[in-house]
Amino acid sequence: MARLSGKAAIITGGAGGIGAATGEVFASEGAKVALVDIDAGALAEVAAHIRKQVPSAQVLEIARDVGREASAAAIVKETLDAFGRLDILVNNAGIRSYEPLDEAKAETWQKILSVNLLSYAYLAREALPALRQSGKGAMVNISSTHAYNPRAGMGQYDVAKAGIISLTKTLAFEEAERGVRVNAVCPGLTLTPFHVRRFAATGKTEHDLRTEKVDHNIQRRWADPKEVAWPILWLASDEASFMTASVIMADGGTRV
Ligand SMILES: NC(=O)c1ccc[n+]([C@@H]2O[C@H](COP(=O)([O-])OP(=O)(O)OC[C@H]3O[C@@H](n4cnc5c(N)ncnc54)[C@H](O)[C@@H]3O)[C@@H](O)[C@H]2O)c1
Repeated sequence: MARLSGKAAIITGGAGGIGAATGEVFASEGAKVALVDIDAGALAEVAAHIRKQVPSAQVLEIARDVGREASAAAIVKETLDAFGRLDILVNNAGIRSYEPLDEAKAETWQKILSVNLLSYAYLAREALPALRQSGKGAMVNISSTHAYNPRAGMGQYDVAKAGIISLTKTLAFEEAERGVRVNAVCPGLTLTPFHVRRFAATGKTEHDLRTEKVDHNIQRRWADPKEVAWPILWLASDEASFMTASVIMADGGTRV
């Protein structure tokens, strides 16, 4: 029996590394999947890949900017129009900025907070009526190890990721009696196309990254995006029925 059989899910940032892997894992477990991303071209490629890997997959492509408040209601409406229900919301879209706080511009703060934090709050708000109606609604918010372990140079990102933990717990407390579970996953170093492109500029290939020994975690390696997608799947599934207001660290044992 597929673990998400009969369920419909929204995954934001669905064209990126972790979002695409989650979309594929969800589809392979029987969910209808609405993938949301600002990059329509990458979204079409990921949707085509999932349909190839999982011929029974029902994948809806929603090309929208989640950083705009109005997108949230539109995304939920498009999903309900296509699938007739909504059981799972995975808030995963994320952007990065590398400004130290003494140089941080208001424009960057606003962009990071809009995409990495407020989009989670607005989509949660708009999705909740349908998630409550599901009877077994589940939300999984993607934060980062850096919510707990902030560093120099990415303060805006780390602040937003810490905010996601707080948002997750507040929503869990507010929704517990309405049957919606809300949890977070904190990925550690995960080898996504973004990082492959970033390191290509320094001369490192994907093979170099896959085989190098890193100091960030006790497994001393990068995660494959699917290694983050599996914990997301579990939290979204009915197997995690006693899990709410929880945070799973999918980080290979990150060193603090
Ligand atoms: N990869 C890692 O090492 C890592 C570690 C910790 C946390 N995370 C978090 O996991 C999540 C996914 O990360 P990833 O590595 O797969 O990232 P990614 O950059 O590969 O994918 C992010 C996706 O979000 C989309 N996106 C960006 N802005 C958007 C917007 N305004 N509207 C709609 N879509 C938008 C991008 O187009 C992209 O497809 C992010 O929240 C990230 O912060 C990643």
